[in-house]
Amino acid sequence: MLIAPSILSADFGNLANDVKAICDAGCDFVHVDVMDGHFVPNMTIGPVVVEAVAKAATKPLDIHLMVEDNNFFVDLYAGMKPEFISFHIESERHPNRLAQKIRSLGIKPSVVLNPHTPAESIEYLLEYLDMVLLMSVNPGFGGQKFIPNVLDKAKRLKDLILKRNPDCLIEIDGGVSDKNIAQIKEAGIDVAVAGSYVFKHPQGYKDAIESLRV
Ligand code: DX5
Ligand code: ZN
Repeated sequence: MLIAPSILSADFGNLANDVKAICDAGCDFVHVDVMDGHFVPNMTIGPVVVEAVAKAATKPLDIHLMVEDNNFFVDLYAGMKPEFISFHIESERHPNRLAQKIRSLGIKPSVVLNPHTPAESIEYLLEYLDMVLLMSVNPGFGGQKFIPNVLDKAKRLKDLILKRNPDCLIEIDGGVSDKNIAQIKEAGIDVAVAGSYVFKHPQGYKDAIESLRV
């Protein structure tokens, strides 16, 4: 299991040190949640802060856009050379075009599905993607409860991926902990995002990340 701690639960007064610390603790990606206050009822960070995160990080960035105007935000963040840019299928009219644009910028395109959005809705997009991100909570906030039926969706998605693009990864985001990571692995998921579990772990970031390596 690859691990991407979500810095939404980091100490924002001490952000660069927290980013360095999760990288030193052995994470695979730094998950950056970008919210615009329209697509989701919350706002997070903009390009000035993401630039600082990119500078502090020694692992690649995994940028999760939760915004209405995906094109605008892709243009803002492409220069920071993240590994992935994930955009929500629910806010994009031309996902095929946007995925191809992200790829042409040298970044791996990924599409996000909200909890109610079926895996089948992106079957014909899979060959243009490097990853699909399944939301296991309603996007907008850290620390919410895991929605278990996402595991059924992950299994359906895995079948579609094997048919259309076997190299495409599946990532899960929301309510991930040591309590559900075994089931997550069993459902065929490759990358786990974890915010509150990692940043609030009593034994520290390294133990938290290791406890998710199933
Ligand atoms: C929610 C964000 C998540 C969030 C996860 O909209 O996309 O990345 O930080 O937080 P936890 O792991 O606490 O559910
Ligand atoms: Zn996220």
